[in-house]
Amino acid sequence: MSARPAPPALDAARVRADFPLLAQSVHGKPLVYLDNAATTQKPRQVLEALDAYYRTDNANVHRGVHQLSERATAAYEGARDRIAGFINAASRRELVFVRGTTEAINLVAQSFLRPRLQPGDEILVSQLEHHSNIVPWQLVAEQTGATVRTIPMNREGELVLDALDGLLHERTKLLAVGHVSNALGTVNPLDTIIAAARRHGVPVLVDGAQALPHMAVDVRALGCDFYAFSGHKMFGPTGIGCLWARESLLEAMPPWQGGGDMIRSVRFTGSEWAELPYKFEAGTPNIAGAIGLGATVDYLVDIGMDRIAAYEHELLAYATDALRGVPELTLVGTARTKAAVLSFTLGSIHPHDIGTIVDAEGVAIRTGHHCAMPVMEFLGIPATARASLAFYNTRADIDALVRALARVREVFH
Ligand code: ALA
Repeated sequence: MSARPAPPALDAARVRADFPLLAQSVHGKPLVYLDNAATTQKPRQVLEALDAYYRTDNANVHRGVHQLSERATAAYEGARDRIAGFINAASRRELVFVRGTTEAINLVAQSFLRPRLQPGDEILVSQLEHHSNIVPWQLVAEQTGATVRTIPMNREGELVLDALDGLLHERTKLLAVGHVSNALGTVNPLDTIIAAARRHGVPVLVDGAQALPHMAVDVRALGCDFYAFSGHKMFGPTGIGCLWARESLLEAMPPWQGGGDMIRSVRFTGSEWAELPYKFEAGTPNIAGAIGLGATVDYLVDIGMDRIAAYEHELLAYATDALRGVPELTLVGTARTKAAVLSFTLGSIHPHDIGTIVDAEGVAIRTGHHCAMPVMEFLGIPATARASLAFYNTRADIDALVRALARVREVFH
């Protein structure tokens, strides 16, 4: 039997044409958008889905027998099916629409974890986390007398897992870890981490916000218990995201927010909850957002996540070499396995000054602590500049960044 031919490599110039926002100038220079870890741009297919929903189908879901409500409900639930398939969920009942990763994690903290925590219990969180995978655990720890403990990192930006088994014990009620670090780009070895948690019977939540835009994710193959992600980080709308969780866990969890659509019946003697996933979707949801995210998934499936990952792997290698060639530039975060995120410092120039000067050259990057202050504190720096790439970026974008950094050095020397 002959092997199937590999799909053609991704044609960045062609996919770039799908993103109208990218074809503009800022400060009289062609825009080079390298702030994709903060938020990604949206293809016209997603913009058209949003526009079509509001132009022709807008109505509330699950509530009306009229045509428009039926169409809106079919589009909203159809999006759920396709997103559930995209991450290989076992069933659509496991996919809860939320506002984004932050809301998903808060939901798990309050609905799953809070009733299970006793004073002295522990929540294990990695030191590489975004604030959204730290603060919800601190809040629930304060509410219950539990403690947040950390899995340490090293100066390369990798988690130090030698002592992981010792950090997991009968008082550990949850392990929370990012799939990909937003600040440094590290891809964490989830296989090792989840296997260790399983050995100790500890449930695992994965913050997948920075993984979905870069790689294929299969929640069942990962073996975690909760997986959270945001639409806007993966070329979809803002204000929509998903919590995936094992059905048995969601069944056992009480609702987090109460309101319309999450009930089966309401009486002053007591109310009953709707079936999954609606038990966790109180109030009118972000219908347009969900439909837009469904269109995003269609778009990504059409291109192929493996092609995106292969393309970005090469672009990251090119960008890493290019930045290493910039005098006085230090890459921050040099893990062996990385997604296309490059954090760096440039001599003693403050990252905010770097960001402002490269912006004047048309290049958008993020500067600051990247909502990961414990990472910066560990590395002993207040901030970095960060270029984060997507599949619509090209080598020409990296060359423009390098030229803009030369301009920064000119200004400061
Ligand atoms: N989490 C976003 C970032 O990394 C905001 O920039």
